[in-house]
Amino acid sequence: MSRTFFDKPVERKTGVNPLGLKGFDHVEFWVDNADQWRDFFVQKYGMVARAYGDASTGLAGRRAHVVGQGRVNFVVSEPQGSGPEADAVRAHLEKHGCGVRDVAFRVQDAKRAFAEAQRRGAHGVRELREDADTANAAIAAYGDTLHTFVERKRHGEFLPGFRNVAGGIDDRDINFAMIDHIVANVERMDEWVTFYEQVFGLDLFMHFDINTGRSALMSKVVSSTDGWIKMPINEPSSANSQIQEFLDRYNGPGVQHIALLTPNIITTIGEMRRMGQEFLEVPDSYYDENFEERVGAIDEDKEELRKLRILVDRDNETGYLLQLFTQCVFTRPTLFFEVIQRKGKSIGFGEGNFRALFEAIEREQARRGTL
Ligand SMILES: [Fe+2]
Repeated sequence: MSRTFFDKPVERKTGVNPLGLKGFDHVEFWVDNADQWRDFFVQKYGMVARAYGDASTGLAGRRAHVVGQGRVNFVVSEPQGSGPEADAVRAHLEKHGCGVRDVAFRVQDAKRAFAEAQRRGAHGVRELREDADTANAAIAAYGDTLHTFVERKRHGEFLPGFRNVAGGIDDRDINFAMIDHIVANVERMDEWVTFYEQVFGLDLFMHFDINTGRSALMSKVVSSTDGWIKMPINEPSSANSQIQEFLDRYNGPGVQHIALLTPNIITTIGEMRRMGQEFLEVPDSYYDENFEERVGAIDEDKEELRKLRILVDRDNETGYLLQLFTQCVFTRPTLFFEVIQRKGKSIGFGEGNFRALFEAIEREQARRGTL
């Protein structure tokens, strides 16, 4: 595996934050059963229900729950009734299975972001919709994925067509603060790197080539200067790559994984496991003598990490990260989640763990007979 860091931002091609991006706002999944996936995130990811929408609240063609914790907001939407909106959800489900429809960004001014993105070459797909609480509009991204720009003017309803619901008291041991990064699998990585540079004004921050001997990928990470938005973009570099398997099974580019940042990975993983979330298998040999040599001095007790099968990767002298990947959550082997905790000046993505991740994924691929 080789990795290249760009420790200072590459010169911007298009100016500083031309869209007024503030971070991730929410992620919308188009799913077969909104109630089931709300319950999934509530039970296994410690989230609370935050809003609800359907025809009765003014949401066209969809029945949707918003769940979240901290700054993480997930929308799970199923098709409802007839009409073009419901048909679009059904067609998406038919083509992709359950998956991410929309990676939405919080912006200072949605109208300006939408106009500027189009001026820079983006394709607008949903015109501005505005009320007293919010304004939003959407552009096309990789595959059938959208990027909605959300402007929040005051504390109010989640979005037009939704009603907030009382979330209850957050007393779970599963603790998520925000989305750390969102990863896309695409056919042509450089095309999308250029898109995020030119349209979003993001910087190419890091790239790596990973070859496990059986499977390979290339990845480039685009990020905002403030670091709130980090998006690795993968492309397959071998025919049997897990990235190619994703492209085949999802029927095109899409979101591969969403990393959720926790301040305490040990209690979070412990509780998620207790609630039945399954994670990628990590071989016991991961924690053998090479472990100390690879990660150096860490705050955590190695035996505790071994018990929970948490992975560790050192980024640099002053930073390391702890992470673990869930099993693919939907019926098709496409999307999974990552739980990540960063210590010190951690800026990486666990590249040193990619081999372990790949080996784990490939054991599953072998079981499914695709290798
Ligand atoms: Fe990741």
